[in-house]
Amino acid sequence: MENYAIVLAAGKGTRMRTELPKCAYPILKKPMIEYILEGIEESVIDETTLVVGHRKEVFYDMLGERVQFVTQEEQLGTGHAVMMAKEALANKQGTTIIMLGDMPLVDSKVIDKMFRYHKDRNNDLTVLTTKFDNPKGYGRIVRSEDGIIESIVEHIDCTDEQKLIKEVNTGIYVVDNKLLFEAVDKIQVNAKKEEYYLTDIIEIMQKDYRVGSFELWDNQKVMGINDLYSVSIAEKYLRDDINKMHMINGVSIINPETVTIGHDVEIAPGVTIYPNTYITGGSVIEAGSKIGPNTEIHTSTVHENVIVKHSLVFDSEIHENSTIGPFAHLRNHAVIGPNNRIGNFVEVKKSTTGNGTKAAHLAYIGDSTTGKNVNFGCGSITVNYDGINKHQTIIGDDVFIGCNTNLVAPLSIGDNVFIAAGSTVTKDVPKGAMAIARNRQINKEDYTKNLIRPKSDSK
Ligand code: UD1
Ligand code: CA
Repeated sequence: MENYAIVLAAGKGTRMRTELPKCAYPILKKPMIEYILEGIEESVIDETTLVVGHRKEVFYDMLGERVQFVTQEEQLGTGHAVMMAKEALANKQGTTIIMLGDMPLVDSKVIDKMFRYHKDRNNDLTVLTTKFDNPKGYGRIVRSEDGIIESIVEHIDCTDEQKLIKEVNTGIYVVDNKLLFEAVDKIQVNAKKEEYYLTDIIEIMQKDYRVGSFELWDNQKVMGINDLYSVSIAEKYLRDDINKMHMINGVSIINPETVTIGHDVEIAPGVTIYPNTYITGGSVIEAGSKIGPNTEIHTSTVHENVIVKHSLVFDSEIHENSTIGPFAHLRNHAVIGPNNRIGNFVEVKKSTTGNGTKAAHLAYIGDSTTGKNVNFGCGSITVNYDGINKHQTIIGDDVFIGCNTNLVAPLSIGDNVFIAAGSTVTKDVPKGAMAIARNRQINKEDYTKNLIRPKSDSK
């Protein structure tokens, strides 16, 4: 017997007021739907069907082969969305969990617990419920006097008395697969909202089958995202949870409420993270490194004992014992070698630097390969773009590049080269040479008397 998941993500998310379909909206820079799929992939589930509709191509691009897609062309409600999976699933023997694509905090533990409970109790349908002090917007769990779950009533359909019920429908159900599709066929359209409510399966199945519920104490884990305010609450919850995990693991985080770490980031014990820092996109930070303050690191690897402060690092790698910043920008596969110093207002793009290289201030290194112990003087740049194409600069070992130098690519500089300050180098420089590529200085002696001066000076 297999375990299936149906995840509903066809809705537009009107209350979000954003361009992206709601379930693709990022939480800590990762689409909501990916959190749900990760939970599913770690759990007992064997096969996942994702119901998409509004801007479905966004999900196709994002998820590829990871799930089986079915389409709900018109969003006629959560019950209607499940009907769309009928062709793909209805004949299969097994147990199915239905989840909403707008609850990113659910993890595999909740899913596995639900399946276990459902099977232990021999239920045909189990609803996951929780309690909220302010349950506004959620469907309420209506029980009989002896506590048996009878129905779920949506907030807008509640009587004043039902509105006081604090126990709500989380939107997660575990149900016998064949019985599910028999039940959804019987859902009638709701007159008020003109939608097919999935929640109606409780009442439908209640008559002939075993319907139960499981209450989750940690209500935050199953919060639904409906607007950008709830996005911020979910982010805060995740942030606290992730930061706590790292701190317990030996990472020192100063002012943790200002530090955002993505949920797929690896940080070794012994790292220190200073305030106002973001580390996201599966980045890895190795032991002894100090990151921040005011730093963003995305999809990058930082090796041991690196310092990165007041800087941006995207899709890049920094080798051990290097110092980045303040105010440096590494991007698009910048690979910084060990013992480097990349300092104030230096940008490195799609370039590799060798051991011990320094660009301490005001430099641009783009589309370059740099050897070891190269010194980029203040204001030196690789001129990589001719207006149409990008070109490469290759620099050997032990090269000294004087201040305000333009290295016009394509260009190759040999080992042990010295380039005079202010040069615009357009031709390759051979090993061991000194290059001066600027006008020779002229001194005009005794010239002061010819200078035009401001009136107050000229007596
Ligand atoms: C739903 C539940 C409510 C529960 C709450 C928990 C129903 C009728 N209501 O309400 O009882 O307390 O979730 O968060 O089920 N979707 C589709 N197709 C549709 C409509 C929705 O795929 O036609 C998807 C949406 O993309 C979304 C999910 O279903 O991911 C939930 O839809 P939403 O409109 O947010 O439901 P709620 O009103 O929050
Ligand atoms: Ca919702």
